[in-house]
Amino acid sequence: MRLKKESYIRRCFDLARLGGQKVSPNPLVGAVIVYKDTIIGEGYHQVFGGAHAEINAINNVKESNQQFLHQSCLYLSLEPCSHYGKTPPCVDRILEKKIPKVVISYQDPNPKVAGKGVQKLRAAGVEVELGILQAEGKKLLAGFDFYHHKKRPKVILKFAQSKDGFLGKKEGPVWLTNPYSKRLVHKWRSEVDSILIGTNTAIIDNPNLDARFHFSPSPLRIVLDRQGKVDRKANVFNGKSPSLLVTEKEQFDSNLRAPKDLNILKLDFGEDLLPSLLSYLYEKKYQQLLVEGGGQLLHSFIAQNLWDEARVFKSPKCLLDGIPAPDMDQDLCIQKIQLLEDQLFVYKNPDSRRLE
Ligand SMILES: NC(=O)c1ccc[n+]([C@@H]2O[C@H](COP(=O)([O-])OP(=O)(O)OC[C@H]3O[C@@H](n4cnc5c(N)ncnc54)[C@H](OP(=O)(O)O)[C@@H]3O)[C@@H](O)[C@H]2O)c1
Repeated sequence: MRLKKESYIRRCFDLARLGGQKVSPNPLVGAVIVYKDTIIGEGYHQVFGGAHAEINAINNVKESNQQFLHQSCLYLSLEPCSHYGKTPPCVDRILEKKIPKVVISYQDPNPKVAGKGVQKLRAAGVEVELGILQAEGKKLLAGFDFYHHKKRPKVILKFAQSKDGFLGKKEGPVWLTNPYSKRLVHKWRSEVDSILIGTNTAIIDNPNLDARFHFSPSPLRIVLDRQGKVDRKANVFNGKSPSLLVTEKEQFDSNLRAPKDLNILKLDFGEDLLPSLLSYLYEKKYQQLLVEGGGQLLHSFIAQNLWDEARVFKSPKCLLDGIPAPDMDQDLCIQKIQLLEDQLFVYKNPDSRRLE
């Protein structure tokens, strides 16, 4: 029986992941309704502000099967809400449909819920089981939990380095990795809600910073540009997805502004630049920041211990000279993956691991 419960909860996890970035800053949640060992309805939280997973699962039950709801079990990756947010409380809908049993993986850490959903169900006579595959349920909310705890987005550094330890050359762009690694990076971009690059990278590489090879919505593209050196016709300002230019300049020529979707944030470029930018992103509810270089920017994040994870591609190509890649502490490496001739190394900051 336990194995069956776990397999339904695992199905909830799979469904939850389909929400991807579209639910941010809400958590990922999946739901499955089972009648006599048959799934009669399933759903997930699909988009921020949209219906919650349990409501989508109830709505997904065919008209002819609605009569079985009062004998069914609802499986959920996360405790149902009991308060009015963007949508009415899910607990009320569960009670209205007279679902007699609810199995939940993880209790909602949001103080507005935190056990109250379970209490309300139990008080109404619903049998509730909590904690099935709890550790995995918690992992699904890792970004959400982390963001609330640290009060800043999760910072993921990403870079590629040559076999001899260089990021690139000052004179112009250099491509180090293979098309599979490139596609993986686009997947990662689709999993975060913001990306940051330094001034020189915007000028030298002129990246698009979108997720076009993963056919996904692109995150906010952020460029540091203290003195307004980056051409407003650069790809990163092409208006295909939103951009944020962080600068110290008081004013820009209006004809240099991209026509739409470019916001300008004025910050002091002193020592507190990165903490101030992270606070701004936290206030705007951005939960992850992918830092895509270049060297100076990556070094600044590492020097201020403002990073949580680093994903480093090592290419077999040699550049002989150029911009040195950050030297990551090999003791912090938690994973190595071979991608044809490229190697991917994943590092975790020990200060952040405690929150996962
Ligand atoms: N292999 C890879 O994965 C990868 C990824 C990205 C880039 N790259 C390569 O890296 C090179 C560019 O790297 P880079 O080190 O020269 O420049 P960068 O990190 O892209 O940009 C550095 C510039 O950003 C501005 N900046 C302002 N505040 C900063 C802060 N707190 N920390 C860091 N930068 C700040 C400064 O410009 P001002 O002085 O004008 O204010 C600084 O000179 C290019 O060759 C590019 O091809 C490689």
